[in-house]
Amino acid sequence: MTIGIIGSGAMGAGIAQVVATAGHPVRLLDQNAVALEKALAGIAASLRKLAEKGKLTPEAAAAALTRLHPTADMEDFADCGLVIEAIVEDLAVKQQVFKQIEGIVGADCVLASNTSSLSITSIAAACQRPERFVGIHFFNPAPLMQLVEIIPAVQTRAGLADEIKTLVASWNKRPVLAQDTPGFIVNRVARPFYGEAIRILEEGIADIATIDWALTELGGFRMGPFALMDFIGHDVNYRVTESVFTAFFYDPRYRPSFTQRRLFEAGYYGRKAGRGFYNYAAGASQPEPNRDKTLGDSIVQRVLAMLINEAAEALHLRVASAQDLELAMTTGVNYPKGLLAWADELEPATVLATLDTLYHDYHEDRYRASVLLRRLARDNQFFLTT
Ligand code: NAI
Repeated sequence: MTIGIIGSGAMGAGIAQVVATAGHPVRLLDQNAVALEKALAGIAASLRKLAEKGKLTPEAAAAALTRLHPTADMEDFADCGLVIEAIVEDLAVKQQVFKQIEGIVGADCVLASNTSSLSITSIAAACQRPERFVGIHFFNPAPLMQLVEIIPAVQTRAGLADEIKTLVASWNKRPVLAQDTPGFIVNRVARPFYGEAIRILEEGIADIATIDWALTELGGFRMGPFALMDFIGHDVNYRVTESVFTAFFYDPRYRPSFTQRRLFEAGYYGRKAGRGFYNYAAGASQPEPNRDKTLGDSIVQRVLAMLINEAAEALHLRVASAQDLELAMTTGVNYPKGLLAWADELEPATVLATLDTLYHDYHEDRYRASVLLRRLARDNQFFLTT
């Protein structure tokens, strides 16, 4: 099956590499000729590196390259069985592009968007045949990240999401099914990792170095929240936080922080800007953590309780299955454990007690416990064995 990719930026280029490596002829389109050229050079370099590392045979790398056909003409999508869009995150522009694509592709061609923050349903609504529309959400960098979230729109025909799941699994990826709700799985459930860490900072409980130390050294997370936000970039991370908050009809659980908003406004985007929470200028001194284990443990306990609560609520509201929630957080953001398994290990009653203490202290809706967590704690049950 020929696959069309529209948009050859960070995501489109990565997705093109994935599907070309999996054996599909690919049409890669971008309105910007320079971006297209850059994407091809990037894919070639990436394939070469994989071959050098022995992850791909030189023949397979060369074959993948020959399957890639860059184009500036959408008419070249006429023979595609699937088109994946990865252009600018703008609903009107995406809708316009799909209208155009529908005039070219066959009636059976599946249409997909890689959007992170728009509803799949809202993009599908612009299509004449919205029943063939689905979300296929890759993670950056697409060739390395195993997780892919598959999101059926309200209009998507029954069975299509499962067919796409099977297809994506054949690309050596780990697909999960998610409901079309803001942030899908990962960008929803991970919010407190950033938000609660910032809250702890704002309250003066601990500084960035200490919070990062606690969550990596004691919590087992691969990167601390401040180092990670700086790495992702506050332009991206702040925008996602804001869009999830807005899309949740301003649920206070997802409220962005002024601290990150100011970094965003200042252009202190993180690593790429040389400055974010940390200073990346050559020779800049780095803050030392306070390695007090009691303090560190309470930071981990608080952030983790908030993360588990998000996972519990996502499960309760059927955003995804327990199995997919676990897979999403361990492969999409490399959490050391699935959050539900983690909750079981700590025991739901203990996690609930942490949240209820916070709720009692603050009287903020932000700390309200999921009813599922509350029920499991009450009945002395567990997430993964009930
Ligand atoms: P990007 O800015 O790197 O690339 C977008 C590309 O689309 C550019 O090369 C641009 O020239 C092209 N483009 C824009 N409008 C177009 C049009 N009308 N027709 C043809 N080409 C057009 O953006 P990136 O980061 O690759 O994101 C693309 C999509 O993927 C967005 O919807 C984003 O939300 C989503 N996404 C991004 C992730 C990330 O970490 N960057 C992760 C997962 C999803």
